[in-house]
Amino acid sequence: MGQAMEATLSGNETAKPEILEKANARTWDGLSRMAFAANWDPEKDIDWDRPIELGAIKEGWINILHYFYEGEWQGLEIIQRLMNKAAHMFKINEMVTYYSTQCCDEAKHLFVFRKYLYKLNSPPSKQKAFDPLVWLATSGPMPVERWILATYFTETMAGAIFQKSLELEAIDPVGKEMIKLMLKDESRHIAGTKLGVQTLMDHSGPLKTFFLRLWWKIFVRLAVKEVRSLKPFGDQVGMDPEYILQKFYAKMAEMEEFSQKFLSDDFSQNFLKGKTAA
Ligand SMILES: [Fe+2]
Ligand SMILES: [Fe+2]
Repeated sequence: MGQAMEATLSGNETAKPEILEKANARTWDGLSRMAFAANWDPEKDIDWDRPIELGAIKEGWINILHYFYEGEWQGLEIIQRLMNKAAHMFKINEMVTYYSTQCCDEAKHLFVFRKYLYKLNSPPSKQKAFDPLVWLATSGPMPVERWILATYFTETMAGAIFQKSLELEAIDPVGKEMIKLMLKDESRHIAGTKLGVQTLMDHSGPLKTFFLRLWWKIFVRLAVKEVRSLKPFGDQVGMDPEYILQKFYAKMAEMEEFSQKFLSDDFSQNFLKGKTAA
């Protein structure tokens, strides 16, 4: 509640002048300022001249990166379609400023993934497969609400996968440098998504919450299936999808109200209790 209160207040005429807004993760403008301060250059801040040697993990790692590339693309497209709608719906103009920083971040992530994959002679292919998914996610009833919830899943998942990648010895230094920079952005995206989820919950009555919970149940089953489909590649690089699922479910559960409303069913509880859900 507190987070959303601040987000709402900062959109209010009586809020403190913008110039006094500090860079912090509790308000939309604060997050935007954090993004400005943490800006990095995908061309210069990574030493691209080093050779990339991956050994036995090469195939698995490339496949995981192709998957991520598609996810970044999809994320960028959905934000662009829905950020103005969201700001209008919640009457928080600052959301647009913040989400435009997220667009910039995701575009940079696409840039570095492309560059890295080209260096490995495995350029990303044209992203036709995701077009229907983006259409599905952005059309129909409550697109803003569904997008905000889905993003909480995907951003925390990306954070957990990036975190694990940094622990893997077989990933080369260029790859790790790239992941480290992206992880900083993703941590901010998780904070932004938490603000979005809190705003959404504050604006949703029991009926809307009921339908969103129904949708969430279907969505997470499909999304978890997707994460598990990476197992053959995960096995090659030493990243177990079940470990990733448990890690980021625990992270999502840090938001108590969200946890009570959306993670109380057996499917989610199994991840939170460290069991493998069926
Ligand atoms: Fe990203
Ligand atoms: Fe992100």
